[in-house]
Amino acid sequence: MSKGAVIVTGASRGIGEAIARELAAEGYDLALVARSADKLEALAVELNGATTCLALPGDISDWGDVQRIVEEVKTKFGAVYGLVNNAGVTRDGLLMRMSPENWQAPLDVNLNGTFYFTRAVTPLMMRAREGRIVNITSVIGLTGNAGQANYAASKAGIIALTKSVAKELGGRGVTSNAVAPGFISTDMTVDLPEKVQAEMLSQIPLKRFGEGKDVAGVVKFLLSPEASYITGQTLVVDGGMIG
Ligand SMILES: NC(=O)c1ccc[n+]([C@@H]2O[C@H](COP(=O)([O-])OP(=O)(O)OC[C@H]3O[C@@H](n4cnc5c(N)ncnc54)[C@H](O)[C@@H]3O)[C@@H](O)[C@H]2O)c1
Repeated sequence: MSKGAVIVTGASRGIGEAIARELAAEGYDLALVARSADKLEALAVELNGATTCLALPGDISDWGDVQRIVEEVKTKFGAVYGLVNNAGVTRDGLLMRMSPENWQAPLDVNLNGTFYFTRAVTPLMMRAREGRIVNITSVIGLTGNAGQANYAASKAGIIALTKSVAKELGGRGVTSNAVAPGFISTDMTVDLPEKVQAEMLSQIPLKRFGEGKDVAGVVKFLLSPEASYITGQTLVVDGGMIG
């Protein structure tokens, strides 16, 4: 029997795909969201089995797309138990040379997208008096980073949004938490120069880069009954990097 329906954004690859695999194995119905329809369909077909897995392509920075997707989830599953806001983008560059467009892109996807999905599922979770929201932020949202002012601002915004939602919805049985990964090996990080990667590795006490499943396991925990008294928190998953 299903443990309830969970929406996972950015599920076509990387951390989101690892989260989808972990949650399917755990017995949740899934609504997978990402821009690329083909990869998403293939993953949904693969994960369909004991529970139902839907592929719902769309752009999370588009409020109309988000409303359409949540309506489809409501029609199919009737309720939404969990929301994992994972989709995200970077547009790295030094502030001095950053165009307003490059400043805006991570805010549109990372912060607005997280707000849009949270806003769209809130009435459903409030009515059910139950719900789990898990937002994937980044250690960069806690520490800042040269060359990532736009990304850092979007991820810090997600942490503040997470805490505010925890305060607003706690009385309705809805928890809101964030997970802040450090360096996780995915398509987002594979293109970083070797020198940068070596430098980062030297700063990780556990002496390895993270994997998608390191983050997925923490998301699974935050959706579980064992985490029912945790809300408004940011769990750092970085091998000890920021200390
Ligand atoms: N990889 C890391 O080291 C790392 C570290 C800290 C935080 N994070 C965060 O983890 C999350 C996942 O990162 P990843 O490394 O797996 O990234 P990735 O680039 O491999 O995958 C990103 C996913 O987001 C989706 N996406 C991007 N823009 C979208 C949009 N407008 N609408 C719908 N879907 C969209 C993509 O389709 C893809 O599925 C991101 O929020 C990222 O900021 C990653």
